[in-house]
Amino acid sequence: MNIGIIGAMEEEVTCIKEKMNVISSRKICNIDFYIGTFSGSPNSVFLARSGMGKVNAAICTQILIDMMAVDAVINTGVAGSMRNDIHIGDIVISKNTRYHDFDTTEIGDEPGIISRMDTSIFEGDPTLIATAQKVAAELGVQNFTGLIVSGDQFVANGEHKKAICDFYAPLCCDMESAAIGHTCYLNNVPFVNIRAISDNAEDNAVVDYPTFFASMAEIAGNIVEKISCSIA
Ligand code: ADE
Repeated sequence: MNIGIIGAMEEEVTCIKEKMNVISSRKICNIDFYIGTFSGSPNSVFLARSGMGKVNAAICTQILIDMMAVDAVINTGVAGSMRNDIHIGDIVISKNTRYHDFDTTEIGDEPGIISRMDTSIFEGDPTLIATAQKVAAELGVQNFTGLIVSGDQFVANGEHKKAICDFYAPLCCDMESAAIGHTCYLNNVPFVNIRAISDNAEDNAVVDYPTFFASMAEIAGNIVEKISCSIA
């Protein structure tokens, strides 16, 4: 099986690359790809550092699908908590994912609806979700499965967070998950997003995010490596 793994930032990717037997690397559209395996697994791994935000994530996903023929995409990274019971260090697994910043309300749509598309909510793959839940439980990591919302915005403000929560009721927010889910949906490729909570998306996020980013990226990366070795 060919497995695509996407992290947005260097730290999210390096902690996984260190566990890989890297056979080759490529740069396409300024995205670094590392191709290899994990010891003890027959799967081929295509690890990519997409860069931040929705467009970078979508381009990266499409390259993995078109040029590297991946059978599944696993996204690793960090996220801001959108619920009081989800804390820094917890893991969120995407049951599904959607945009919180897609807005054509002026022409009559509900917020977050992608006008004239058959869905605006992209469903994670049930087998990948179940595997992620099992791996997280085995590692003793508190984990939640539900909606992840994405936008080209770092949320670090109580009012902004409340507005997103009031309408979408997500578990966490990030900047790539929905774009990866959207691209996988259009290509009929299974995906899951695995996000470790680095901050609570309120004012102190600007302090918590840089403090916890690297260690949280490692927690998510560890789970993603184990999922990649568990699926066949
Ligand atoms: N990734 C991690 N924390 C985030 C936040 N507060 N907003 C958007 N993306 C994030």
